[in-house]
Amino acid sequence: MVDISSILSGMHTDRKVQIRGWLHNMRSSGGIHFLLIRDGTGIIQCTMKKGSVEDRVFEDVKGLTQESSLEVSGTVKEDKRAPGGYEIKVENLRVHHRAEEGYPIAKKYHGPEFLLDNRHLWIRSRKMQTILRVRAKFLEAAREWFKTNGFTEFHSPTLITAACEGGSTLFPVKYFDQEAYLTQSWQLYAEAAIASLGKIYTIAPSFRAERSRTRRHLTEYWHLEAEVPWCDLECIMDIQEEMLGYVISVLCDEMAGELESLGRRVDELKGMKPPFERVTYDRAVEMLNEEKVDFKWGDDLTWTHEKILTQKFNKPFFVTHFPTGVKAFYHKPDPKRPEVTLSADLLAPEGYGEITGGGQRIDDLDELLRRMREEGLNPKDYEWYIDLRRYGSVPHSGFGLGVERTVAWICKLDHIRDAVAFPRLINRVYP
Ligand code: 4AD
Ligand code: MG
Repeated sequence: MVDISSILSGMHTDRKVQIRGWLHNMRSSGGIHFLLIRDGTGIIQCTMKKGSVEDRVFEDVKGLTQESSLEVSGTVKEDKRAPGGYEIKVENLRVHHRAEEGYPIAKKYHGPEFLLDNRHLWIRSRKMQTILRVRAKFLEAAREWFKTNGFTEFHSPTLITAACEGGSTLFPVKYFDQEAYLTQSWQLYAEAAIASLGKIYTIAPSFRAERSRTRRHLTEYWHLEAEVPWCDLECIMDIQEEMLGYVISVLCDEMAGELESLGRRVDELKGMKPPFERVTYDRAVEMLNEEKVDFKWGDDLTWTHEKILTQKFNKPFFVTHFPTGVKAFYHKPDPKRPEVTLSADLLAPEGYGEITGGGQRIDDLDELLRRMREEGLNPKDYEWYIDLRRYGSVPHSGFGLGVERTVAWICKLDHIRDAVAFPRLINRVYP
């Protein structure tokens, strides 16, 4: 048994092979069946001539339904006319399961809601296969970068009791006779773990009870986060730049065909390599005002504002030093200018906007308590987190990257929902 991908890479030319997969599409003409078979690693044309297989097998294939699962054996031939450049001359075929008639996602136009209802089948489409493969490669390359650079993978709990990113987007969970929540970020636990493990990262789901119905919000998303001791704002921006630069170069090298098929030009993506410009929030306000946008210092950047800013850059760029008032309690106020924080968001170009958020954390006990009071938080809910400033506090920084937002940008998708197999949206938790 071989993978279709190995056939398409020329490894089995003129040899006998056996493959297993699903019937993606079929047509017949002039006593030949042309079957397109998909196995999860690729898709290949298989031709079956009357007379080259037993008559019973040839008859069996007539009227074979899309998505039937099969086993095929035959000889691999190079053929420029075949999609992918290779085909299998079928010598035998066994139907493992004949799919029912009326596959819901037959080849015709379907609206987005229909495809979301049938997501369990739609993920078999070429488009979704391709995106899911790019996504997997993205995470593989990120892990590789973290490993090479001395980071340890660390996991935090999903069930938590205190908000990291504000109470308004917490999902409550009934936890026996207590109330708990689904985590919004691993960060607070990561700040505990750096004193144990040093540089750490995670790739895990985060949850936001977002009331917004937008092209860039999910209620459950995958969060790639890192936390680093002895690291300041500049240092954490450098880390993001290097990591993302590496991941993009791997994708350009190993996923060029996939990216192009999604409409993302690889030369364009190659041009988006670091360094990424660093623009202060103050400067961003000026840029918006120059565009005649009514935006006052102290307001938070919304998607509309980010979209306008992204038109001025052709690669990702950081916006730094956000006002203390628009950022969560843990952000360290700039000692030289306490009305702003040592924070940075990374914005992707082409209207995509924020893909990472992070910065330097407060490491001083009194400053942390003061900021919690200002934000109306009860220090009792954060006892263990406050404790970290009592026993060997160090300057430290971290960031969180939204995996789906980043994949949506890299794959040039219209909507974040297609960057994940089974999206969770305000109006959808099924299938
Ligand atoms: O900016 P956020 O809220 O920052 C944090 O959670 C920090 N605690 C991370 C850290 O420093 N460790 O979220 C980080 C990123 C955003 O930049 C965005 O890409 C993504 O998470 N994100 C979402 N992605 C999809 N749907 C949502 N509802 C998202 N909310 C945030
Ligand atoms: Mg943010």
